[in-house]
Amino acid sequence: MLPEEQTPAERPPTRDWTPPPPFAHPSEAEFARILDFYGVRWEYEPRSFPIRWEGDRVVEMFTPDFYLPDLDLYVELTTLKQSLVTEKNRKLRLLRQLYPHIRVKLLYRRDYHRLLARYGFGPLAQAGVRKIERVLFSADAVQKRVAELGRQISQDYKGKEPVLVGVLRGVFCFMADLMRAISLPVSVDFMAISYYGKGEGVRITKDLDLDIQGRDVLLVEDIVDTGMTLHFLLRYLESRGPASLKVCALLDKRVRRIADVPLHYVGFEVPDEFLVGYGLDYLEKYRNLPFIGVLKPEPPPDSPPQGVDKASHSHPPQ
Ligand code: IMP
Ligand code: MG
Repeated sequence: MLPEEQTPAERPPTRDWTPPPPFAHPSEAEFARILDFYGVRWEYEPRSFPIRWEGDRVVEMFTPDFYLPDLDLYVELTTLKQSLVTEKNRKLRLLRQLYPHIRVKLLYRRDYHRLLARYGFGPLAQAGVRKIERVLFSADAVQKRVAELGRQISQDYKGKEPVLVGVLRGVFCFMADLMRAISLPVSVDFMAISYYGKGEGVRITKDLDLDIQGRDVLLVEDIVDTGMTLHFLLRYLESRGPASLKVCALLDKRVRRIADVPLHYVGFEVPDEFLVGYGLDYLEKYRNLPFIGVLKPEPPPDSPPQGVDKASHSHPPQ
């Protein structure tokens, strides 16, 4: 594997290489690469803060390693060497006292490894977890788009009390954020379905609890792929006599569409790749990623499983 193809955690241990400029320490270069990987913008040592004076003369400054403009946060990296940690903590305390509006965080190596493990990388990651090839939409980009959708829906449904219907389980992150971005009284309900092989089709394993007759229903989906699921659900919901029925999908994999289904609200159009994170899973993993990423492809297994529960995606990405 070429070094460029490696994930940050797969690269050689930091002690054994000289960091590229402008970095003073290998762990800083490594951290910068991880930030790049997750699409978080960074500036290296952009500002020095005077923290001690003798008369008018500044006698001590503190320069945090990184500034992350997206998070409005300064980050200082530290190792486990206790003498250094104590010294850094002293400087940080002074900085916080003197500049209370500045947000600064000391990041220990173990925090950083935990961060990596959450995304399936690094020494703490579980064995056998597939890698994320790249981040398609950062957590920030997702949040911004969901807020926009919420505003649009609030305008369009002004004076109404829509029922949001979600299809478990992939939709739960999107639903939770979307409903809070809608400034109307809303009700929420969920359905669950399973896929069966050999022409048996789709089956509802959890039906609606609410009566949607005469209500304005907004079907909320995480991702529309072939459109077959949505087609089935729309027919079903229509049979329950709603006053109106519309669809809001976070992701639209339009190039794969088979069934012609109407999408009234779309977060992002996405390429034909297997996506995980923000509720989307592969074999029940990766749902807790705060961003939406592309799963690294793998050759398909010899025999595909039968009777796949929609809630867990065991079909391998192409
Ligand atoms: P469709 O019936 O082919 O449109 O499939 C839609 C369902 O398949 C979605 O609700 C997802 O649960 C699942 N799905 C489709 N593409 C992906 C993906 O890239 N990642 C995770 N789940 C997916
Ligand atoms: Mg879904």
